[in-house]
Amino acid sequence: MNNWVLIAGGAGYIGSHTAISLVENGYRPVVIDNMCNSSPESIRRVESITGIEVPLIQADLRDSAAVRAVFDRYAPSAVIHFAGLKAVGESVERPLAYYDCNLGASFSLFDEMLRAGCHSLVFSSSATIYGEPQQLPLTESHPIRPTNPYGHGKAMIEQIIMDLGRARPDIRAFNLRYFNPVGAHPSGLIGEDPSGIPNNLMPFVSKVAVGRLPRLQVFGSDWPTPDGSGVRDYIHVMDLAEAHVAAVRALPGQNGVRAVNIGTGRGTSVLELVAAFSAAAGQEVPWEVAPRRAGDIARCYADPALARNLLGWSARRSLADMCEDTWRWQSRNPDGYGEA
Ligand code: NAD
Ligand code: UD1
Repeated sequence: MNNWVLIAGGAGYIGSHTAISLVENGYRPVVIDNMCNSSPESIRRVESITGIEVPLIQADLRDSAAVRAVFDRYAPSAVIHFAGLKAVGESVERPLAYYDCNLGASFSLFDEMLRAGCHSLVFSSSATIYGEPQQLPLTESHPIRPTNPYGHGKAMIEQIIMDLGRARPDIRAFNLRYFNPVGAHPSGLIGEDPSGIPNNLMPFVSKVAVGRLPRLQVFGSDWPTPDGSGVRDYIHVMDLAEAHVAAVRALPGQNGVRAVNIGTGRGTSVLELVAAFSAAAGQEVPWEVAPRRAGDIARCYADPALARNLLGWSARRSLADMCEDTWRWQSRNPDGYGEA
């Protein structure tokens, strides 16, 4: 077995960080990405951090011939599938585009994997598939009740992988259900680079801190939480990257398909995050209370026990690390990869 790992969607935020962890653990990443939400600069910077050439094939996963050529050339022993569109609000406005891209890319990728005899897969799922939590912390047995096309698509792809596993006992896969990924590589060279005005909290806060946006709107101060603001399970992207390496490492001993939560198990409120970011940046981040955002929930955090037991992985980095690393990336690259 060779040590190439195919990273589908690997030029994006989580994929580029995972490429670094793979190299640090003796794997060779090869990336396929259509660049619809990323820049080749991320992979150039991964190469400068690791000192290793990372092949980047710029192609859409729905282009089966292009995907086939990658399998033929590199014969990867495993695939990590990050590729897809991820904006929840946009998925409500453009459901067909979301199903076409996210499901179409997955069909084509899985088809070519099977054709090439590659049976080891790690898939980027999301805690969003749980919908409104019935109990906390969220365990993997919580009902699957997504509330938008993005989440429905993730649940469908999880189901497709489960069905493949039932049909083919040689298939091994982990559906990793991420909680809220934030932070950046400590070098400050790569990080999250959202286009336009960010929807998610941490990129919004960091754009305010760097002066690109005037102030944060805190969506609701009357939630049933200790300080009234929403609570989430933020996880450092390098911890998440290491979870993928742990999953790839565990695949050969894995029987069938398993869904695994990837979170810290700790809830952090919006106001706690703002305070931690202000400390990291050495300046107050201005904020004001605004009405609740439609579709939001009060609290969401993981039970990460299965990841510990099955993958031997748990998150190590603190909220301060998440804020300091985000700030380093944002302050050194105020326009993301755009200025490169
Ligand atoms: P990202 O947008 O930075 O990365 C996704 C990459 O996939 C991009 O580089 C994009 O160009 C590429 N891509 C999209 N459609 C493609 C296609 N048809 N063919 C080839 N490439 C394609 O997103 P990310 O934050 O790195 O997220 C990675 C994965 O994790 C996504 O599937 C996302 O849904 C999932 N996820 C993300 C979060 C989060 O908060 N970031 C949370 C839970 C799950
Ligand atoms: C969002 C997505 C969810 C996805 C997750 C991780 C929506 C409705 N949900 O959820 O599907 O899985 O990201 O990518 O988009 N907040 C503010 N002000 C802001 C932005 C956010 O107060 O400008 C608050 C929110 O109300 C929430 C917390 O910050 O309490 C985190 O928000 P966000 O980063 O968008 O993540 P999720 O709400 O978990």
